[in-house]
Amino acid sequence: MKLEISLKGEAPRKSEVLIGEGLAGDVPRVIRTSLGRRTPYWIWDRNVWALWGEQAEKWGWPAPSSGRVVLFEASESNKRLYRLEELARQLAIAGADRQSALVAVGGGVTGDVVGFLASIYMRGIPHFQVPTTLLAQVDSSIGGKTGVDLPEGKNLLGTFHQPRCIWMSPAFLETLPDVEFRQGMAEVIKTAMIGNEVLWKYIESHAAEIRSRKSEALQWIISACCTVKAKIVEADEKEGGLRRVLNLGHTVGHALERLSDYEIRHGDAVAMGLVAASRLAVKLNMFKQADLDRVVDVLMAWELPVRIPGAFSPEDILEALRTDKKRAGDTLHFILPVRIGEVVDSSDLDFGKLKEVLASLRGESKPDS
Ligand SMILES: NC(=O)c1ccc[n+]([C@@H]2O[C@H](COP(=O)([O-])OP(=O)(O)OC[C@H]3O[C@@H](n4cnc5c(N)ncnc54)[C@H](O)[C@@H]3O)[C@@H](O)[C@H]2O)c1
Ligand SMILES: [Zn+2]
Repeated sequence: MKLEISLKGEAPRKSEVLIGEGLAGDVPRVIRTSLGRRTPYWIWDRNVWALWGEQAEKWGWPAPSSGRVVLFEASESNKRLYRLEELARQLAIAGADRQSALVAVGGGVTGDVVGFLASIYMRGIPHFQVPTTLLAQVDSSIGGKTGVDLPEGKNLLGTFHQPRCIWMSPAFLETLPDVEFRQGMAEVIKTAMIGNEVLWKYIESHAAEIRSRKSEALQWIISACCTVKAKIVEADEKEGGLRRVLNLGHTVGHALERLSDYEIRHGDAVAMGLVAASRLAVKLNMFKQADLDRVVDVLMAWELPVRIPGAFSPEDILEALRTDKKRAGDTLHFILPVRIGEVVDSSDLDFGKLKEVLASLRGESKPDS
């Protein structure tokens, strides 16, 4: 499948998304076509290189002996500015210049770091993304947001820098641990709730195929998610408004991640956030109880948490939300579902009702309807 993201802004650009297994051997040629005579430097997540490096050489991708492959120890704790400088120095030593380009091979951490580096190396060079986690394929590689963390918070430094091209293959997901796959599924479920009821029904009806990572099923959900995200990014590249809908489940989710000192994984936090947003919407008579039940059932089927651990009080979560609000400016936007496949951006959050919802979700088992 091929998808084109048309970006307007000051300088109209296009970002191309290619999804499919058979294309692996073609990637160096695709890169040459998309980057012209620029020399690509490949920055790989070291873990992914260990699993896929040999295969990649068989596909004709460059080997470390070419001097154009850099291995990056990808982890959230290495998503930091000093690691970016280390990578930049490795590139400079290897001879990368204004006529070079970067290729990121790895999950969301690698994509965010390499995207950021590409946006500032020699005042900006093009880059190409090869996302290898489900989360990166359905979410983080699309849209051009880049960044690194500060001890004070995640993604506080960053840029918008659209990749020229994104190539992804479900084949990479064969080696992805279940826990990582689940994190990606939380974003798939979120995406379906935001803008694609057909995707939602597919997730409900093809759970077994997705779980056993059948290539066709994976390609289907990845394509559907990319299509939803691409449309939103085309309409609002720099998060002026519409793009905020992508934060469904993330307001409460981010608060939980932060309160747990990032012990709670992102997808797990988003799952709890999706239940909180859905339950609040039911309380506000905007969303049907039956749809809330479907949300809880789908999340549970993927072993994603639907209750908030007792250690986090509603007061603490609301306090963390207020901190986020200060950071984002004045208004706290809360995205609420109105039906499966449609959400609204509400800027007059009823804190009292949210507090009741958070209190009702505390515990370990399935929330009562
Ligand atoms: N830019 C955006 O719009 C955006 C959106 C959502 C999330 N993010 C960012 O994405 C990051 C999370 O991404 P992630 O979940 O992909 O994390 P990640 O990059 O840390 O990858 C998760 C783990 O999977 C391993 N891995 C990657 N591909 C693999 C494969 N094919 N087989 C086996 N193991 C593999 C990695 O080495 C790592 O240990 C966060 O830093 C988050 O802030 C960015
Ligand atoms: Zn997310």
